[in-house]
Amino acid sequence: MRNEWYVACRSADLVEEMLECSILSTELFLYRDAEGVAHALHNQCPHRGARLSQGKLRGDCVVCPFHGWVFDGSGRCTLIPANGPHASIPQGAKVMSCPVQEAGGYLWVFVGEPHRVKELQLPFELTDPEWRAVPFVVEWEAHLTRVVESVLDVSHLPFVHPESTGTDVNPKVEGPEFSVTEQEIVIVAKPYHPLVRTPLNEEDNGSSTITFTWPNQLILRTDMFEGNQMATYLALTPVTEAQIRIHGLALRNFLQDTEAIDDIHYEHNVTVLEQDRPVVERLRPKRSPLELTQEVHIRSDAPQVRYRIMYRKALEQEQQGGEGHEG
Ligand code: FES
Ligand SMILES: [Fe+2]
Repeated sequence: MRNEWYVACRSADLVEEMLECSILSTELFLYRDAEGVAHALHNQCPHRGARLSQGKLRGDCVVCPFHGWVFDGSGRCTLIPANGPHASIPQGAKVMSCPVQEAGGYLWVFVGEPHRVKELQLPFELTDPEWRAVPFVVEWEAHLTRVVESVLDVSHLPFVHPESTGTDVNPKVEGPEFSVTEQEIVIVAKPYHPLVRTPLNEEDNGSSTITFTWPNQLILRTDMFEGNQMATYLALTPVTEAQIRIHGLALRNFLQDTEAIDDIHYEHNVTVLEQDRPVVERLRPKRSPLELTQEVHIRSDAPQVRYRIMYRKALEQEQQGGEGHEG
């Protein structure tokens, strides 16, 4: 899925230095120009393949570490020192640049075909000042499909996260109740998903939903008490086909200044993900099978089945050079 926006890093992480980043095996580096505008360029000089991130920043440009060619934020070469300052620049002296946008505290990069850039939809909690966001990052040796499905999967909770769902919990799943649109799958989770369940939150007191937004965003929202809510946001970035970086936010709209809650919520999220990791990393095949008959499904897997249908359709469209997933 190349024609999509993926998180490269937190906005706050890109300051004065260049930052290396890989998205779907495309090696990039990011930097900010003198105005603070972020740029994402391929990390390979068109002259002799040097790693541009080993070079230097000079004003709005980057200088290659090998022979000093200078490139601007659009990837255009502006100076070849060995030819002197007045020489013309060969046509091919360009570095591929990728569209970048900053939203919800992240830098998003589009590594696909630039004319297929689409709008990025984010959950409102990422930009609402009422919400406190505690960031975390984890990396798994897993394919994006298996990670998405593990979050959509309510029947694994008593087995992978027993302490979160309770020791004597009945593993029978009611439903789950869910809805699907072109871009989204929304599940009403019962029992509550452990990413958002806390001792403050008992099952009868509210509801918990898991929302997947195509192709790589998940948010788990839980009502706490009297309008207070907690949420866990996950943005999945495939570093390669087999490795994923999960940029997460532990979110809440109450006691925003209480640092102790930051720590508890952070620990909770990282711990729960670490319970999933060894299981999800060893699933085979690494990518969820596109043929539905290749694995056995039961009723509680219905949201994952819908995801596979969505994924397969988008992949077919991308392979045909079509519009990809539109909604
Ligand atoms: S390899 Fe970059 S200038 Fe020669
Ligand atoms: Fe899990």
